[in-house]
Amino acid sequence: MSVKTSAPWQRLSSEELEERVRAALAENASYRDRDEPVLGVPGTVLDRRVFYDAPFLEHAPFLSCMLENPNHIGCHTLGLSEPIFPGTQALEVEVVRVCAEELLGADPGTVDGYVATGGTEANIQALWVFRNRFRERYGVTSEQVVVLHSEDTHYSIHKACDLLGLTPATLPVDPATRALQLGPLREAVAAAQRRGPVCFAVVLNLGTTMFGSVDRLDPVLEVLEAAQARYEVHVDAAFGGFIYPLTHPANPLSLRRPEVSSFTLDAHKMLQAPYGTGVYLVRKGYLASVCTQEASYVRGHDYTLCGSRSGANAVAVWLILHAYGPEGGREFLAQLLARTERLCAGLDARRVAYFREPHMNVVALRAEDVPPAAARRFHLVPDDHHAPRWWKVVVMDHVDDELIERFLAAW
Ligand SMILES: Cc1ncc(COP(=O)(O)O)c(C=O)c1O
Repeated sequence: MSVKTSAPWQRLSSEELEERVRAALAENASYRDRDEPVLGVPGTVLDRRVFYDAPFLEHAPFLSCMLENPNHIGCHTLGLSEPIFPGTQALEVEVVRVCAEELLGADPGTVDGYVATGGTEANIQALWVFRNRFRERYGVTSEQVVVLHSEDTHYSIHKACDLLGLTPATLPVDPATRALQLGPLREAVAAAQRRGPVCFAVVLNLGTTMFGSVDRLDPVLEVLEAAQARYEVHVDAAFGGFIYPLTHPANPLSLRRPEVSSFTLDAHKMLQAPYGTGVYLVRKGYLASVCTQEASYVRGHDYTLCGSRSGANAVAVWLILHAYGPEGGREFLAQLLARTERLCAGLDARRVAYFREPHMNVVALRAEDVPPAAARRFHLVPDDHHAPRWWKVVVMDHVDDELIERFLAAW
């Protein structure tokens, strides 16, 4: 059983961070240990010819954890877990708790989750869980699960529909506000209901990929309730999950809302973690519908899409969260937002049209206003490489005032 902790999310010194990871690794079994040898798994320390030990690693908790190479297969917030890596699994359980409870306001102990390979996996996992749950509860087929989402939704939702045999329903947004249009939503719900039995998997965005726009929950719920629809709501916060809840404390799209069942966050975006650090969160009870009983060699079975996964990546997320703490996180993000505002003020002064969601660090510029040479030179990302209508700037840590000034000088 994984160790559960209710320590509040706080900033730790670098010595404390090192000490916590050292203690977690000491609690794990080590492939190097001759007294308690590990013989039964196809895993070992990272190849020593390539990833050699060095004295500085003693003070590099993430890298030393990578060398030890713990496998976090399975889900550690429920039931049993593999007995080899309980120390680092417990740090992952803390990551899930901090994200669910401290960032997104869930009640204590009500959410399961794990560190996935990224936002794509977490979104596929979310729709896999909903599909199986709908099938069990209402006897619908995969096709009878309609996935309602806006046209600004990430393409991983289309991947998920393809893989899981679900029916996608892509809804238009208002071109100026990027808000989901309710008329087409009503029509899509009614049309699906006319075809026969149906359940709706609703995907809302807490920060769309191109615009950083945030979908509103209540108008969507009103439509579904008025239609007496059966539905579940997943929030894709891959882009905004580690920024918006801290920059906008009144964030209306959170686990405080009982209608929201699951969340995707990506630590390898705004949290500056290594790639391979998506976070999937789901209400307790839901994962039962994706328990793979055939995973009989895994203690506690497997509830995840990916199987084996890096324990070091989960530790990386834990380290970043605790290197900042909530206050440090807010201070860091306030700087990003201040720079985003300076960029917007510069665009206003030059009469360049753009979309920006308040509290977010994304600015989408109308393509006709952007000199093509500047788009290329500054590696802006278009909505569509073949026919760009928008180019986006994401104000990350390295996008400092000097770079913003240089960019603005293109007009
Ligand atoms: C909103 C949103 N969801 C999901 C994803 C997919 O994330 P990943 O590339 O980590 O799989 C992205 C990536 O940009 C995203 O912006």
